[in-house]
Amino acid sequence: MLHNITIRNTEFSRISEVDFNNIGFGKIFSDHMFLADWDGHEWTRPRIEPYANLSLSPATSAIHYGQAIFEGMKAFRNGDDVFLFRPKDNWRRLNISAERMVMPEVPESLFMDGLQTLLSLDKSWVPGNEGSALYIRPFMFATDDFIGVKPSEKYCFCIFTCPVGPYYSKPLRIKVEEKYSRAAQGGVGFTKCAGNYGAAMYPTKLAQTEGYDQVLWTDPSTHTLVEETGTTNFFAVTGSGVITPNLHETMLAGITRDSVIQILKKENILVEERPLTVSELKTLYHEGTLKELFISGTAATLINIEGFAHQGKYFDVMKTGNTQISDLIRAKLDSIRLGKTDNDFGWVKNLIKA
Ligand code: COI
Repeated sequence: MLHNITIRNTEFSRISEVDFNNIGFGKIFSDHMFLADWDGHEWTRPRIEPYANLSLSPATSAIHYGQAIFEGMKAFRNGDDVFLFRPKDNWRRLNISAERMVMPEVPESLFMDGLQTLLSLDKSWVPGNEGSALYIRPFMFATDDFIGVKPSEKYCFCIFTCPVGPYYSKPLRIKVEEKYSRAAQGGVGFTKCAGNYGAAMYPTKLAQTEGYDQVLWTDPSTHTLVEETGTTNFFAVTGSGVITPNLHETMLAGITRDSVIQILKKENILVEERPLTVSELKTLYHEGTLKELFISGTAATLINIEGFAHQGKYFDVMKTGNTQISDLIRAKLDSIRLGKTDNDFGWVKNLIKA
């Protein structure tokens, strides 16, 4: 280990209070967290502390000017083994976000040492029930107490974890969004910055009051090209293969998205990353060749879409379709993440022996 991480253990573990059969998502936090401070020149004071509230000035820059970025990753339990899924990809993406938001780079060694030390300490928090995982939230935010728009000089990098069950428990009904946009050309859509999620909440709330679970974002210029949902990337299965919108600057490059694409290729299923219009989706639906819609994300994993609404009309894809490809890919992904199948892709890291 490169970094000398100071460890302050919790005096009272909360783990015995947790009903692991009923954990929900994002409400229960493990005993410890990892912290490090950027002092304007270097990362300092790498440390593990008991999970607790942070003490911040009301003038903390991130709260006002939005320099806040995060990642979502998961660890899985298979018996005594704990597997991490593609942590290096999350580290890389965090730094892509950091560069765009004028925040300091987190070295791989700091990210991995912090993660490994934290998970070694809280390994008993990694749940083993089917469909559960330890959700890991690395994040960085600006900590200058200063009023005025400029990049902060100081930052906090933190990792905390929560045992989680499924994010979504049933297939989703989604609404194609044609008025609001998630991101614009030249903007920050490709980053995982906090503001992207805050800005999505109002249109999502409107869609939910209309009876839908999520929005399906379209391109900001014409609102004709499918991009992603509020929490995931998007896939359409047709009679001849799978289509997913090609990545560009207004979209987040999902790590689960990339995993799904690579598994599809390995299974010799045709997968096209290309522009996908809403009108093509509707044509495929009317022709009877739109077999499945599904979405992918770290939190959501792989979830089916029941149907989509466009201009007041609902297209119930599940009514006539099936879940053949999504079931296959979900099973393959689950098996890889639990370290059950050969780790052909090199995605799974067994960092911690529980
Ligand atoms: C994730 O998938 O990890 C995210 O950050 C999205 C959010 C829905 C939790």
